[in-house]
Amino acid sequence: MNNEGAGRLAVYPGSFDPLTNGHVDIIQRGARLFDQIVVAILENAEKEALFTVGERLESAKQVFSEQQNVEVDTFNGLLVDYARRKNASVIVRGLRAISDFEYEMQMALMNRRLSSEIETVFMMPAEPYTYVSSRLVKEIYSLGGSVSGLVPPSVEDRLRRSSRLQAVNQPSGASD
Ligand code: PNS
Repeated sequence: MNNEGAGRLAVYPGSFDPLTNGHVDIIQRGARLFDQIVVAILENAEKEALFTVGERLESAKQVFSEQQNVEVDTFNGLLVDYARRKNASVIVRGLRAISDFEYEMQMALMNRRLSSEIETVFMMPAEPYTYVSSRLVKEIYSLGGSVSGLVPPSVEDRLRRSSRLQAVNQPSGASD
């Protein structure tokens, strides 16, 4: 491992569009396990995103503003290159269900092939978050359903303010 003497640093990468309470749960578990955990938001021009990378960065910083050993950052390019630049020895990923496993295993093994000194560590969120995903949060909110308890209150606020998701959530009579 290349982070000797500086404490064990883990990177928790993802799209976080938006950050859910499932992500928050994993970050808090990671913050207990490692000296520092970096929430690394992928800057991915290819993916159609609801929130800009800047908005996601700001919102995660807001959620973890009180937590000394949680850093929020953005990255592009290969994750293992970013992890190396940060001197991280661990990549953290959440595993919710068997359905996550295939994709996660493929990524973990590919990352190991690219950089054998960085280990992927999987963590399971608390049960209430095992079925929470950013994709479902966006879908539920855009169709007028409640996402309360699924995302941090500040993210719920942002969803409410997002012009990109307001079609169904307009009060009746105010849609035109
Ligand atoms: O939240 P997501 O979308 O499941 O996160 C996927 C992420 C960001 C972890 C993955 O797409 C990634 O690491 N992208 C960076 C590019 C890279 O390193 N690709 C090779 C992975 S084996």
